[in-house]
Amino acid sequence: MKKKQLALFASGTGSNAVNFIHYFAQSELAEIALVLSNKADAPVLEKAAALGVPTVIISNAQAANGVYMVELMQKYGIDFIVLAGYLRFIPSELIAAFKGKMVNIHPSLLPKYGGPGMYGSKVHQAVVANKEKESGITIHYVNEEYDKGTIIYQKKTTVGAGESAATLAEKIHHLEHEHYPKVVEGLLTNI
Ligand code: GAR
Repeated sequence: MKKKQLALFASGTGSNAVNFIHYFAQSELAEIALVLSNKADAPVLEKAAALGVPTVIISNAQAANGVYMVELMQKYGIDFIVLAGYLRFIPSELIAAFKGKMVNIHPSLLPKYGGPGMYGSKVHQAVVANKEKESGITIHYVNEEYDKGTIIYQKKTTVGAGESAATLAEKIHHLEHEHYPKVVEGLLTNI
């Protein structure tokens, strides 16, 4: 059976993207065909290239151009898209072309602390400022509304009394690395 071709979209550090590359390195089921970023200086690009994964940089105009994005995915033979800290809006043509085949991870228990402007450390700062007792991760399908696609998986963690946004971010990253590739692997067996 031909391996499923995965594209990882990332805009920043890329710890999740790197984790995916390692996780699927020996997989019979899937391989990482592409790491795409809208930021030319995103650290994820160098890390992916060093691990032998093709990388593509797109402009913000290209990111918003659905026809361009769909053709780009076709060019790389992509079967499934994984968003991992990707901070651009996804155009509707791409959402339609990858219905049920594009997922995102969000670093909170959606629907709490989601929506436009809520990403990365901003989420953790808000959770700590509101003295929440728990937070966590949400993996969901991507639809037309920011952070509102059908939820596939959530995992909770406690927010301690002395927790800072930085220590919470560390806990959340740990959860993301443990669960995100496994959840995607499960989805890939059904497409
Ligand atoms: C992750 O924590 C991810 O959940 C979050 O950005 C971080 C990227 O980290 N995504 C969002 O906030 C999306 N709204 P990474 O670059 O180290 O993988």
